[in-house]
Amino acid sequence: MTSNIEISPPQWSDQLEIDYAELGTRLEGLVPCLEWPMHLPWIDAILRLKEQRGAVIMAHSYQSPEIFHGVADVTGDSLSLAQAAASCSAELIVICGVYFMAETAKILAPDRTVLIPDLHAGCSLASSITAADVRRLRAMHPGVPVVSYVNTTADVKAESDACCTSANALQVVEAMGSKKVIFIPDRFLGAYVAAQTNVELVLWNGTCEVHEIFTAQQMRHARERFNAKLIAHPECSPEVLAEADFVGSTSAMSQWLEKVKPDRVALITECSMADNLRTKFPQIEFVQPCNLCPHMKQITLPNIFNCLRDLRHEVTVPADVASRARRALDRMLQVGRQDRV
Ligand code: 13P
Ligand code: SF4
Repeated sequence: MTSNIEISPPQWSDQLEIDYAELGTRLEGLVPCLEWPMHLPWIDAILRLKEQRGAVIMAHSYQSPEIFHGVADVTGDSLSLAQAAASCSAELIVICGVYFMAETAKILAPDRTVLIPDLHAGCSLASSITAADVRRLRAMHPGVPVVSYVNTTADVKAESDACCTSANALQVVEAMGSKKVIFIPDRFLGAYVAAQTNVELVLWNGTCEVHEIFTAQQMRHARERFNAKLIAHPECSPEVLAEADFVGSTSAMSQWLEKVKPDRVALITECSMADNLRTKFPQIEFVQPCNLCPHMKQITLPNIFNCLRDLRHEVTVPADVASRARRALDRMLQVGRQDRV
C-alpha cells in the first residue's frame, strides 16, 4: 500500500454544505454551528481518502459527534469494536478510540494494518497495571485464574486467562469455573461484579479517571433537580452505582433508553456518549454531566486525515505476546455480549 496519496488540504466550499446537508441537520445542536464549517472539509476529505484506501473506521461511543457520526463505519462499545475487528475484511482498520482498543483490534485481526490517529491516546486503567504486576499476583494466589478487563495493555492480556468488557464481566468471571478469580485492573467494575456472584474476587486498585470522579451527591442532585433517570457505567464507584436506575456498558445504556424511553436522563459516563445518542433518541432530554476522557479526545478529524494520508501510526504487537493475548481475547468473544436489556 503506498503511503503518499496526493491529496490537497481540505478547504471549505459552499458546495460542501449542500452535499452534507443531511449530516448537518442531524448534527445540529450537537456540533456548535461555528465549528461546523471547520469540521466539514475534514469530514469530506476523510470520507474520500477512506474510500481510496479501502479502510474501515471504527469509533468508540466516547468519540466526539463529528467523528462518531461524520466518518465512522463501525461505532459502539469496546466489545462491539473487538467483535468488528475480529470479523473485518478490510485491509486497513483505523481505530478512533484509545491505544488498548487498537492493540485489541490488531491481535484479533493480525493480517490487517491497524492504525491509530494518535499514539498518546492512553487509558488510566490500562496504565495502572503491568505484566510483572500480574505475575506477582499469580505468585501470591497460586492456581487462581486471572480475568483482565479489556482496558489493559497487550502484555497484561498475555498474562491473563481471559479478558472481559463491561458487557460480559460477570459471565466471564463465572465461566472460569473457579471459586476465586483475580480480577484486574478496575476495582469499581470488580466490586460491581463481586456483588453479583459467589466467586471470590481478588481486586487491583485501578480506576477510570473519568468515571471515578462522579459522586453520589451529583446523582441525587440530577434526580431531585431535573427529575432525571440515572444510568451509570460500572466503572463508577459503588456509591454512585447504588443511586443509578440502570448500570451497564455504553451499548447497554443505548438499549435501555430504547426500551424504557424516559423523558429525561442523565448518562453517568463520558460526555460524548450523550451527544452521540441524542440523534437516535430526539424525544429524550439528556441532562449532561460533562466529564471528558482526555485520552479519547486525542483523536481529532485532522489527525484521522493525517493517519489515512500517511498511514500512521501503525499498531503492532510482538507475535509471542499477541498469541497469548489472543487466547484471552478469544475467551471473551466466546462469552460474547451478555448485557442485553
Ligand atoms: P465500554 O465501551 O466497554 O462500555 O467501556 C467504556 C470505556 O471506558 C472504554 O474505555
Ligand atoms: Fe480509560 Fe476511562 Fe478514558 Fe475509558 S473513559 S479510555 S476507561 S480513562
